[in-house]
Amino acid sequence: MTAAARAHGLFQHLYGIEPVGVWAAPGRVNLIGEHTDYNDGFVLPFALPHRTAVAADVLPEQRWAVTSELTGETVEFTLDAKVDGWAAYVAGVVWVLAEQGHRVPGARLTVASDVPIGSGLSSSASLECAVLTALVDLAGLDIPIADRPRLAQRVENDYVGVPTGILDQSASILCTAGNALFMDCRSLRTEQIPFDLAADGLAILVIDTRAPHQHAGGEYAARRAACEQAAAELGVAALRDAVPADLDRLSDDLLVRRARHAITENQRVLDTIELLRSGRHREIGPLMTASHASLRDDFEVTVPELDVAVTAALTAGAYGARMTGGGFGGCVIALVDADRVDNVADAVAKAFAEHGFAEPAAFKAVPSAGAGAA
Ligand code: GLA
Repeated sequence: MTAAARAHGLFQHLYGIEPVGVWAAPGRVNLIGEHTDYNDGFVLPFALPHRTAVAADVLPEQRWAVTSELTGETVEFTLDAKVDGWAAYVAGVVWVLAEQGHRVPGARLTVASDVPIGSGLSSSASLECAVLTALVDLAGLDIPIADRPRLAQRVENDYVGVPTGILDQSASILCTAGNALFMDCRSLRTEQIPFDLAADGLAILVIDTRAPHQHAGGEYAARRAACEQAAAELGVAALRDAVPADLDRLSDDLLVRRARHAITENQRVLDTIELLRSGRHREIGPLMTASHASLRDDFEVTVPELDVAVTAALTAGAYGARMTGGGFGGCVIALVDADRVDNVADAVAKAFAEHGFAEPAAFKAVPSAGAGAA
């Protein structure tokens, strides 16, 4: 059963009536362009078929009740409440809409999700974006699609308190089926890039390392701060504006490595776009692998499970492989021949067993639709 059907069923079960509607938003993988969003750079995510769904109806007064299929818990809150835990992603959407001067109707919501939690596939962004889409529709608010990622990002930054960029929410809202989303995180200009790997006999395999996220929050903030310091030393607004020759002007080796990742990663996104535009899908593999090496050696956000998964996938014949998302655990994506998906997944599982790591999960990722009514 889809997440939408389950959210719908849960609503009927709890309230004995039909919801007004069901809305859903996807998780994502980022093909390339990691830790570039908060440097005003480029990203290239696509949406997963895995979605978080919200069934809802409106209440006559401004209060909200949200029930999670996962925990069975119902959290109730009013406009001025500060909510913690998973429901913060729901309360934060109400908060940001109200803060923007919108009248948000009270609502009862039920949530079900197929996006793996804590795997770096943007389960929290999918929840924020599903709730945002639901409330915008329920209230009939006139908020252009292009403006919505920024609102959802503010839920994360200003309500939940995590200093993430705009990648995840943009992917969840703006991606379309069959395409990757090329986005300039400074201008917020986007372009849908056709990404039909199947036509070329290729596939993207997602490997969830299931490695526990350790210190991810603090380390993420530290990477971001280092990038901002490097930009300040160079006298530019963001590392987006720096070129490799600038690296000589930085005060210490750590900043050089952090900045080198951001600068070279932006170029790899542009190079990937060039190749995709001319249908040279296989040739993006080396760029993916170079991205991983940069994230491992210069940006230092990988963990052994991510590195082992990449090496095992490449050894088993992947054209390229890299971690995707923030790092410190989470997933690897590998570009593989479609008929080799199982071989590569098995090779990674074998390597994990040899290293004494937990068994990884694997699935084939097809570029899917962004948020909308379900
Ligand atoms: C996390 C953040 C994003 C982005 C990536 C790294 O997913 O939420 O904003 O910075 O890490 O590319």
